[in-house]
Amino acid sequence: MKKKQTAKQNCTSGELKGAESSCTPFLEDVKNARDKFTILERAITSARNGIVITDPNQEDNPITYVNPSFLELTGYSQDEVINHNCRFLQGNDRDQEGLRELRKAIQQGTAITVVLRNYRKDNSLFWNELTVSPVHDESGRLINFIGIQNDITARTEAEKRISEFYSKISHELRTPLSSIRTALSLLKEGNGGPMTSGSLKLVEIAGRNTSRLLRLVNDILDFRKIEAGKMELRLEETAPAELIDQVLGELEATAKDRNITFEIIINCDDKMQIDRDRIAQVLSNLTVNAIKFSPTNGKVKIHTIKNRDGFICFRVIDRGQGIAKSDFGKLFQKFQQIDSSDTRAPGGTGLGLSISKSLVESHGGEIGVDSKVGRGSIFWFEIPVKRSE
Ligand SMILES: Cc1cc2nc3c(=O)[nH]c(=O)nc-3n(C[C@H](O)[C@H](O)[C@H](O)COP(=O)(O)O)c2cc1C
Repeated sequence: MKKKQTAKQNCTSGELKGAESSCTPFLEDVKNARDKFTILERAITSARNGIVITDPNQEDNPITYVNPSFLELTGYSQDEVINHNCRFLQGNDRDQEGLRELRKAIQQGTAITVVLRNYRKDNSLFWNELTVSPVHDESGRLINFIGIQNDITARTEAEKRISEFYSKISHELRTPLSSIRTALSLLKEGNGGPMTSGSLKLVEIAGRNTSRLLRLVNDILDFRKIEAGKMELRLEETAPAELIDQVLGELEATAKDRNITFEIIINCDDKMQIDRDRIAQVLSNLTVNAIKFSPTNGKVKIHTIKNRDGFICFRVIDRGQGIAKSDFGKLFQKFQQIDSSDTRAPGGTGLGLSISKSLVESHGGEIGVDSKVGRGSIFWFEIPVKRSE
């Protein structure tokens, strides 16, 4: 500190030349500060995001700095924006959730990320993903806000198109498929008049394939809901036995086709607080896989047991081909197949287990597998027991 003062005195008294050794620390400080400033200035100027700095200590929080990307994004010139509040980017549709949140954050001096509908100088709309952060001085006083603008128009429009595509799948694929399946099952039951055994076989094949297609469509729609965080759970008290009854009732015919029998052991009757259809979907998915990969005339076991830590564990056990330990991790990832010769899910989307994982986890549970090649597999999941309030 003392050295620095000496250097400063020397420099200001014009003895800079020839006194370099005593000036060095001070000059170094200046040089370092200048280098730092240059680096920061270059970085902000080169950034592909729009960057603005505003001064909340002036009336109406005006812009004091903008980088070139902000001008490029909005189409305004520097003179048109400096000393103005950023709201000139807004149109008449100012009643936006994002804007309400932003207003509150600015009032409270907190950081926030919002998405806003904004307009360029030529009036064209762009979706602005904006992050605003407060900047404080050493004493903690609010001196500026920095805003970083990211044009997400392309992404937003793509998402809109994807959303429309999924709702098309839902209405234009699922609805007719369901009615084809109903018609086929009515035919099978003889409601369309008597059928030869040959026709009956064809109707059965068509029915099985329609169901498979419907499962596929449902998987894709579920996956979409989970990805978008739009999966809603309708919780109700359910006992393990009720769940197993429901699932086995639905899978009776599938098991019969391959002459598979079930062994059910239920070691607890505690209730769970679950979306019954969703957890039935998980159990059904694991059981269908177990049936598929069991040898014909085989046995699929479903066991439930209550763990010490208050979870009910469902185990679905088959004596199929088994899975190598190195592949366990991949099983629950979306669109994953174990290898190119994988036959575990013929005709599947590769989504079933990943959907199951999301559904179990959204109930506060866990899912996993234990298996040995050539010995069969145990797929298990745990759901917390309903706590008595
Ligand atoms: C650093 C900073 C950057 C901002 N950037 C934008 C922006 O890009 N687009 C926008 O519509 N509003 C932006 N705003 C918000 C507006 O300046 C203003 O705070 C907002 O419209 C709410 O205030 P008002 O209701 O008085 O208009 C920004 C605000 C700050 C502090």
